[in-house]
Amino acid sequence: MAHDITLNLNDEQATLKLGADFSSTLLAGVTVYLHGDLGAGKTTFVRGVLGGLGFMGRVKSPTYTLVEPYHISINNINTMIYHFDLYRFIDEDEWDSSGFRDYFNPSSVCLVEWSDKAGSLIPQADIDLYLTLSGEGRSARLIGNTSVGKKCLEHYQNS
Ligand SMILES: Nc1ncnc2c1ncn2[C@@H]1O[C@H](COP(=O)(O)OP(=O)(O)OP(=O)(O)O)[C@@H](O)[C@H]1O
Ligand SMILES: [Mg+2]
Repeated sequence: MAHDITLNLNDEQATLKLGADFSSTLLAGVTVYLHGDLGAGKTTFVRGVLGGLGFMGRVKSPTYTLVEPYHISINNINTMIYHFDLYRFIDEDEWDSSGFRDYFNPSSVCLVEWSDKAGSLIPQADIDLYLTLSGEGRSARLIGNTSVGKKCLEHYQNS
């Protein structure tokens, strides 16, 4: 089914490729939650996405900064990509004071690791990506939740 895709990722390169392939289907305004244990490959996927969109710099894990912004052009439209890592988020109350709500807007794409740490206040995901350990590699599952999220996954499958 186009809105529920499962893939095997045998090595790091495969995770990077998934990110790069997925990046060409991204639309502004989309929020993607990246699920998976420590070391599952969430940041690697983000590296693939940013590389696919032509970003040449280093992609740091926003472990302490909580979010890292990137200026990217998608379909010739300036778009902000926000890469969140909320592992060190303390509780729901921190959400309002963080100002992160404003990062989720129609001209940004939000890629969020450890979204559950922000409780129920964080905007819902258009797409959920689940990464799990599978032998030496990883298994990935992409699920589209909203019409825009499903549209991205349809483009991805047809690309
Ligand atoms: N498909 C894969 N097969 C094997 N190793 C992989 C694969 N994808 C990524 N890795 C490796 O997994 C390690 C951890 O990846 P990464 O930092 O992306 O994890 P993470 O999910 O962001 O972890 P954290 O929750 O700590 O931020 C890296 O060394 C990366 O090379
Ligand atoms: Mg990470």
